[in-house]
Amino acid sequence: MPAVTASAPGKIILFGEHAVVYGRPAIAVPVTQVKARAVVSAAPGSAAGQVLIEAPSIHQQAYLADLAADDPLKKALTLALEHLQISRPPACKVRIGSTIPVAAGLGSGAAVSVALLRAFSAFLGHPLPDEVVNALAFEVEKLHHGTPSGIDNTVITYARPVFFQRREGGNLIETFPSPQPFTVLVADTGVPSPTAAAVGDVRRAWQQDPPRYEALFDRAGELTRAARKAIEAGKPHELGPLMDANHALLQEMGVSSPELERLVQAARAAGALGAKLSGGGRGGNMIALVEADQVEAVSQALLGAGAARAFMTRVEAQG
Ligand code: MEV
Repeated sequence: MPAVTASAPGKIILFGEHAVVYGRPAIAVPVTQVKARAVVSAAPGSAAGQVLIEAPSIHQQAYLADLAADDPLKKALTLALEHLQISRPPACKVRIGSTIPVAAGLGSGAAVSVALLRAFSAFLGHPLPDEVVNALAFEVEKLHHGTPSGIDNTVITYARPVFFQRREGGNLIETFPSPQPFTVLVADTGVPSPTAAAVGDVRRAWQQDPPRYEALFDRAGELTRAARKAIEAGKPHELGPLMDANHALLQEMGVSSPELERLVQAARAAGALGAKLSGGGRGGNMIALVEADQVEAVSQALLGAGAARAFMTRVEAQG
C-alpha cells in the first residue's frame, strides 16, 4: 500500500466570528500560507489493527487504541473507520505535521482533522468526499469547543471563501463572486487563546444579558451582509470601515485584549484600510486590510507593536 499524503489550509474569519455561533452569517477565507499535513503509510511489521500516530510538533506518539476517547486525533480516525465500516484497518503509521499556530484563531484543529480524514480514508482505499470530510471534521470540532458553528471545518474543507450561516436542518454554505482581489495582513499577538474559552465566555455573557448580546450579534450579521455586497460589487476597499465596526462589536462582546488592541491600533495608524481581531479573540491573530503598496509599512508597524509574526495573504478574484 503506497503512502498517502493530504494537506489542508488554515483560515481567517473576515467577518462575523462569535455571532456565527448564534445563527448570524459570517465570511471566512482559506489561508494557504500555513498548512496541516497528514501522511499515512503501511507498517508491514505490525499486527493488523495497529495504528501508530506521530505528531512530533506536540510531542505525541501513541497507538490509536491507547489514546483517550476525547482525543481529537483518535476521534477523527475512529469516525473515518466507523463511516467506512472498517473494524480492523491494516497496520499503519499516521504522521501529522502543521505550520498553523495552535490556539491562534487560524483553524489549526479543523485543518488537522481535514488532512487526517482525507489521508486516512484514501490510504484505506475509500477517499471520503468533501461533504463527509466536512461533517466528520465538525464532529471533531465539538471536542475542541462544545458549540462550534461549523464555519472553520467548512472553509478549510472546501478551501475557498465562504458565506456561512448555521441553520437547523442544514447550514447555508455559499460561495460568491469576488471580482477584485484584495490583500490582508495577518498578525499574531503571540498569546495562545483556545477558542473554547472565548466561546464559553461569550455564551455565559449572552445567558446573563440576552437582549444586549442578540443586538450585538444582529449588528455583526448586518456587517457581514454589507461586506459580501462590497466584495461582490468589486469594491473590497469598502471592507475597511466594516472591519473596524466589526472589531468594535467584538470589543463589546468582551473578546478583545490589550495585545489585540495594540496591533489593531498600530495597523490603522500605519495606514491600513481597516483592522479587527479574527477568530475567537482574547489573543491569537488579528487581520488588517491593506493596499498592495502598504504591505511593508503596515507589517513593520505590526512587528514594532509586538506582533510575534505577520504575513500577507491575498484573497484572489473568484468567478
Ligand atoms: C472561530 O474561528 C470562530 C468562532 O465564531 C467560533 C465558531 O464559529 O465555532 C469564534
